[in-house]
Amino acid sequence: MNEPGDIELLLARLTTEIQASRKYRGLALPAETLRGLLQQELVKGRTGSAALQAVREKLHNIVAPYLGDPDYPAAAIMLEQAVCNGDSDSVKAACQNIMAAHASTKERIPWLDTFYPQLWSITGTPGSVLDLACGLHPFGLPWMGLPQETQYHAFDLHTPRIESINHFLQLLGREPLAVVQDILVNPPKLQADVALFFKEAHRFEQRQRGCNRPFFEALNVRWLLVSLPAADLSGHHSLVDRQRNLMDSILAGLDWPVQELLIGNELVFCIRKT
Ligand SMILES: C[S@@+](CC[C@H](N)C(=O)[O-])C[C@H]1O[C@@H](n2cnc3c(N)ncnc32)[C@H](O)[C@@H]1O
Repeated sequence: MNEPGDIELLLARLTTEIQASRKYRGLALPAETLRGLLQQELVKGRTGSAALQAVREKLHNIVAPYLGDPDYPAAAIMLEQAVCNGDSDSVKAACQNIMAAHASTKERIPWLDTFYPQLWSITGTPGSVLDLACGLHPFGLPWMGLPQETQYHAFDLHTPRIESINHFLQLLGREPLAVVQDILVNPPKLQADVALFFKEAHRFEQRQRGCNRPFFEALNVRWLLVSLPAADLSGHHSLVDRQRNLMDSILAGLDWPVQELLIGNELVFCIRKT
């Protein structure tokens, strides 16, 4: 049985441990994430060390360090030089280099030229975008064909990623609208034409079964584009049926028309929120 003060003590222990760990040091993960994960375990009846162990396992899946990271200071210099060169090919080359450092963006690289025209052919070119659990996806901006006035809001819980994205947005002459935020604990309330929620909904279910539906409902957007991997990382096993079943269960009973696109290894569900 947990006492009311337990959560504060455990949270302090967890925070100290995370700040000291080689794996998470420097990421400045939001306190709301640690608190939310801990609360979830305590509500299930776990106590003390068992609760902390369960949170560690969840955190590994959420932060997913195994998916990779660029060298952020080196990336900043490379981007500055590319933008200074003044030609779009140099900027694209630098962005590709950065995106190749993370598995989710790496596997999208061969499809970048055709990916966004297909999305915008369904939604129209957006005047505002929420890139949810963005990872390194905003480095795809040079392929997106978005007007300079389009507001590009990006959200992630990984501070070095968000800082790097804001630096890039500024180099492009855009507003630095990327923020460190746990979008599950605190869903963005901003109004936007399009929200992108790429390659994360299946992990959200692992973090908290059933959480996607209230999360989708909370978003104040006209279009919600949710993508899921169409095959596993080895490329050998199709996940299409499993992903369709997941989306069907999330959207069951909601009156939201869905169009599906398969682009490379990405199955994109284009949901018109009505
Ligand atoms: C698999 S990557 C996907 C990146 C990107 N959407 C893409 O498709 O290229 C998942 C990203 O989501 C972030 N993330 C996971 N849970 C999150 C949450 N609750 N709030 C904000 N960001 C989250 C992780 O830090 C990571 O950068």
